[in-house]
Amino acid sequence: MSLSIDSKVTLNNGVQMPQFGLGVWQTSNKNASQSVQWAIANGYRAIDTAKQYGNESGVGDGLKRAIADNNLNREDIFLTTKIYDGDQGYDSAIENFEGQLKALQVDYVDLLLVHWPVTDKYLDTWRALETIYKEGKARAIGISNFDIIRMKDILKHGSIKPAVNQMEFNPLCQEDDIKAFCDENNIYLEAWSPLGSGSVLNDSRLQKFADKYNKTVAQVILRWDLQRGIITIPKSIHEDRIKQNADIFDFELSDEDVQEINNYNIEKRAIWYGDFYWYGNPEGYRDSVSHIED
Ligand code: A2P
Repeated sequence: MSLSIDSKVTLNNGVQMPQFGLGVWQTSNKNASQSVQWAIANGYRAIDTAKQYGNESGVGDGLKRAIADNNLNREDIFLTTKIYDGDQGYDSAIENFEGQLKALQVDYVDLLLVHWPVTDKYLDTWRALETIYKEGKARAIGISNFDIIRMKDILKHGSIKPAVNQMEFNPLCQEDDIKAFCDENNIYLEAWSPLGSGSVLNDSRLQKFADKYNKTVAQVILRWDLQRGIITIPKSIHEDRIKQNADIFDFELSDEDVQEINNYNIEKRAIWYGDFYWYGNPEGYRDSVSHIED
């Protein structure tokens, strides 16, 4: 399987998206600019943020500097952001998205996602994304944290099919049913927190693969994502780890090893509907991620 940091997947509207990029959930606004600059300097070409992360302006700053410093153009970077829960609804999503573009210092994003399926609002939010897409302010649109019931709802009522569903995904949480549904419907599964926010790195079973391939556990997991056909966006605020996480293109896991990691799945989620009282209550959600470093 020949993969590189420039490998792209083709989304269902024909847009090409890098399969590997930087995620910035749990990165402070202050650190976001530097993380984005280190990532782009080290070959990353996709950045994933969200208004909910509180770091769009830091990402925008880092993006602008990195594009200039590396002689790149805006089109060379694939930028994803998401509609904040508190902005959901048709008018509100459209209006507030303009502010997101300003914070990011761009006039379009490459992928815009509905961050969470907020009850009674996500269908209107989806219509807003369709409008934004038709206006050319998002090159592709998708969803995040949508289970099968809610995906079916979007497919039934929407006029555009989501290109991506971004879900919690790691060796202990492989979203088998959702992945199968996405595959059937030509929707790409993208992993948020591919390292389980760091927790999966301590799973002792993965160390043998690290030893076998002379890589770190983080690198084994990220390579496994790519070989599974998953879009992956590891987060780090450290330059050495940002480099390390991208150094996964000089080895290949055997089919047996991919399968063994597949068998670790116990659908163990850190966040899911009802796990947090935030659901339908954006402020509650924000409290639940208040461990963001500063
Ligand atoms: P830090 O940002 O301090 O480097 P995920 O991508 O699943 O959300 O995981 C991110 C978490 O894993 C962060 O806590 C990050 O810490 C840590 N992390 C990212 N890359 C590595 C790595 N290569 N080795 C160890 N920890 C890592």
